[in-house]
Amino acid sequence: MATLDQKPLRVALAGLGTVGIGAYKILMQNASVLEERTGRQIVVTAISARNQSKDRGVDLAQCAWEDNPVNLASRDDVDVIIEAMGGENDPAYTLVKTALENKKHVVTANKALLAYHGVELAEIAERNNVSLCYEAAVAGGIPIIKMIREGLGANRISGLYGIMNGTCNYILTTMERTGEDFAKVLKDAQELGYAEADPTLDIGGGDSGHKLVLLSALAYGCLPDFKNLSVEGIDHLEAEDIEIAAEFGCRIKLIGQATKLEDGRVLQMVAPSLVPKTSPLAHVDGVLNGIFVQGDFVGSSFVEGRGAGEGPTASAIIADVMEIAKGHCAPVFGVPSGKLEKAPTATAQDWRGEFYVRLVVEDRPGVIADIAPILRDHTISIESLIQRGRSEKEPVNIVIMTHDAKGEDIRAACAGIADLPCVLGKPLLMPVLKI
Ligand code: NAP
Ligand code: HSE
Repeated sequence: MATLDQKPLRVALAGLGTVGIGAYKILMQNASVLEERTGRQIVVTAISARNQSKDRGVDLAQCAWEDNPVNLASRDDVDVIIEAMGGENDPAYTLVKTALENKKHVVTANKALLAYHGVELAEIAERNNVSLCYEAAVAGGIPIIKMIREGLGANRISGLYGIMNGTCNYILTTMERTGEDFAKVLKDAQELGYAEADPTLDIGGGDSGHKLVLLSALAYGCLPDFKNLSVEGIDHLEAEDIEIAAEFGCRIKLIGQATKLEDGRVLQMVAPSLVPKTSPLAHVDGVLNGIFVQGDFVGSSFVEGRGAGEGPTASAIIADVMEIAKGHCAPVFGVPSGKLEKAPTATAQDWRGEFYVRLVVEDRPGVIADIAPILRDHTISIESLIQRGRSEKEPVNIVIMTHDAKGEDIRAACAGIADLPCVLGKPLLMPVLKI
């Protein structure tokens, strides 16, 4: 345990937006609690953002200002950098790399940076015996990194399924509850500070993918490999999909999953998925995130909490700063980075289970007769089928629920169906997750 006569821990903040200012507020408002629990004062000595004159609603007058955030990495009055700017490239990349090389600890909320450069940065941190912490980067306020790395560290993990993007979950649940359109709900999520600077990362599934590869590295000891991940977002869903899913007793959630297959490969995919209403994941609403982790001795553990926004994200950032204040330093991905394996990965093509398939078709005789042989030829069996008309003479939605099928077979069948003259547009395909 640290003693009270230790020197203050000196923190620099790079980025003073939702997350950076949230972290600053905790450091100010809970200073005495943090000191009591870590045995050290934690002080902010320097800051950087794009615009020095912006009113950020807090008094930053006592902090030194740097126009270039990378300069924070070379200051003598800084022990820890909190990187809260975002983006996988510069200035975040050079700031974090330089800070670690200069033997400064780094706490970051930046999952994109780690999904692309995590291994390189972890090696630098290990070489210099400093921490690179990222609890805030995955699932906001939920301590999922510590849960997998430490709490469940004795287990072999076999499955990991989660709602990892607060913006998408907020959009899906608000659309379902209020019937408001996609664009309006996305705008609300941006105003609430949930969305990424580029919200296509949220709605296109990329943000969930960044988080998933970090959790996979921790859970399975495999190299974070974003480039080989199957990623689909929610931007092609319609309100009618949410309604039809409900008729099948399901809700639609954007799920990131990483599971160990019998052949030893780790299947990683992000996809909008049907989840039975009986599953706890179906009841993770609004900006909440929820994650199931299955381990060989612990069984199934489920955690839920706020996955985005100022308070929860800053709470995770400061928890990491407190670990550093206490002198704790865990391997970034649970094992030394040199031991991470380039394990062969499996993708959505390898996923097996039931599927929801929505087709937009001309409403005329013979359409089902055209579709059925293609399904048969790819050994896809229909469990049930719904046709929804809009109004006469307009195309109609046909939704097919399949029996158990393999991802590559249903995808090949959908490609064939898409070529039929009676089928308009690309079929929408979603796995049905039985968890
Ligand atoms: P934000 O509100 O847009 O804030 C970004 C901050 O970084 C701003 O203060 C901005 O300066 C500064 N910045 C951006 N580019 C810069 C540059 N080139 N040089 C100097 N400063 C720069 O973003 P945020 O929501 O706080 O997100 C920050 C990070 O946290 C991202 O990696 C994000 O993925 C992650 N994260 C966010 C949440 C969330 O709920 N928001 C949750 C978990 C993780 P100005 O203010 O002067 O423009
Ligand atoms: N944009 C992210 C989300 C922020 O909506 O979940 C939290 O990582």
